[in-house]
Amino acid sequence: MHDIDTPQYRPAYHFTPAAHWMNDPNGLLFHDGIYHLFFQHHPQGLNWGPMHWGHATSRDLLSWQEHAIALAPDALGMIFSGSAVIDRDNTCGLGRDGIAPWVAVFTHHDDEAARRGSERIESQSLAISLDQGRSWRKHAGNPVLPNPGLRDFRDPKVIWLEGRSRWLMSLAAHDHVRFYSSPDLQQWTLESEFGRERAVPGTVWECPDLFPLPWQGGTRWVLLVSVVPGGPNGGSGTMFFTGEFDGCRFVPDDVSVRAPIRWLDHGPDHYAGVTWSTSGTRRTLIGWMSNWDYAKSVPTSPWRSAMTMPRDLSLREVDGLPWLASAPAQETLRQGWQALAAPAAPAAGPIDLSAAWCRAAGRLTLALHLQGAAGFELVLGNAVGDELRLGFDTAPGEYFVDRRHAGRNDFSDRFAGRHVAPRLVQREGAEVQLYFDATSMELFADGGLTTMTSLFFPREPYTRAALHLSNGARVHSLLLSAWAGAAQAQRRAA
Ligand code: FRU
Repeated sequence: MHDIDTPQYRPAYHFTPAAHWMNDPNGLLFHDGIYHLFFQHHPQGLNWGPMHWGHATSRDLLSWQEHAIALAPDALGMIFSGSAVIDRDNTCGLGRDGIAPWVAVFTHHDDEAARRGSERIESQSLAISLDQGRSWRKHAGNPVLPNPGLRDFRDPKVIWLEGRSRWLMSLAAHDHVRFYSSPDLQQWTLESEFGRERAVPGTVWECPDLFPLPWQGGTRWVLLVSVVPGGPNGGSGTMFFTGEFDGCRFVPDDVSVRAPIRWLDHGPDHYAGVTWSTSGTRRTLIGWMSNWDYAKSVPTSPWRSAMTMPRDLSLREVDGLPWLASAPAQETLRQGWQALAAPAAPAAGPIDLSAAWCRAAGRLTLALHLQGAAGFELVLGNAVGDELRLGFDTAPGEYFVDRRHAGRNDFSDRFAGRHVAPRLVQREGAEVQLYFDATSMELFADGGLTTMTSLFFPREPYTRAALHLSNGARVHSLLLSAWAGAAQAQRRAA
């Protein structure tokens, strides 16, 4: 069946492949001012299939250029998620002529073995690039970490452990994370496990990422784990843990195994997020903006799926615990935006933002600073009766996104819904940033302590936008900016 192309649903400043299926971000590297994004990709189909690594680059994390396929399936299987490092000291010995090798560490997934009923279908392998990611050669000694008899054994995230002169791999092992160490990326030793006792039966852990962040003059470690199903609003979602890591073992701050799960993003559409390490202590996250509940049926063509806004991470204190906060990555604030005139707030009734919304063709950001109570609702609508509603409801103290009537939801019975997120701070007023890009909404509230990412597919473009205030909320400032950068490069670079 030929799917009808949907250019109206193409995001402008979020990465999408020119065509075909995409899921997780992989192999995030930053080098010479360029962000490299590899990604799970099926370059022959609009649906999940034999997984490859696609490749795209960006200087500003808003405009992306897609490159040739980096890794394709081979005799050991498909190329599942993983990470990449620049091996400056050539610890792996696979560099040549003084060139520091770039090493991709990924999961080989053997579908043939899976069909035969084998448990040993996933193992970890390496690929080497000596030309800064343009071309890759698989390592002859693959796999470097064979399967120990665990059906789900994947998504290696490797970092260099400063001061310990060794590599550390976080790996998802069905219902827990395993930490392995290596001096050379080739020989791996199991150091410890985390999380078995916290796992919810019937769910699978995926895409772990362990990294340090500054905290109270020292360091705290953050462990991200994506989980499916069991997300905060159904389907897939990403948990975070904070704690101590001594180079071998992760000890979480919330020692009780029954402590409530802490979610990275409370919307339905943020999954498999992993981080770049750029300079110093900076950590920048990007996620797959979808949900395994319906990712394979969202109505876009000729591509399927986008990445989220890249987000800078930091720790802030909530109830005595370090809490992970996300803000749009600093580069994304600098260029590409054009300020739009915001209407003055009328004495009574909603603030009409329709003109700004239409000028920006639904690709814009909105920074709202409220005084008094924080109650607000933004309603987007069109002539055929679709309505997306989002805001803050003061009575339960919750942010919400209601896409039950926002547009198409016939493609999955799990898509329609009203999703909520708690407010973690008790204070007057609110500061909320919203990013809209054709079919997505990302909300950053209270300094990034609460974020929500949600997709929607209006049957016709929204033409009405109205901001309603409640409970005595007053506008302190309202800034609107339209995306004015180049349309996404939709062709592969030569
Ligand atoms: C997460 C995931 C990973 C796996 C990849 C396969 O979305 O299931 O665990 O490596 O997708 O495409």
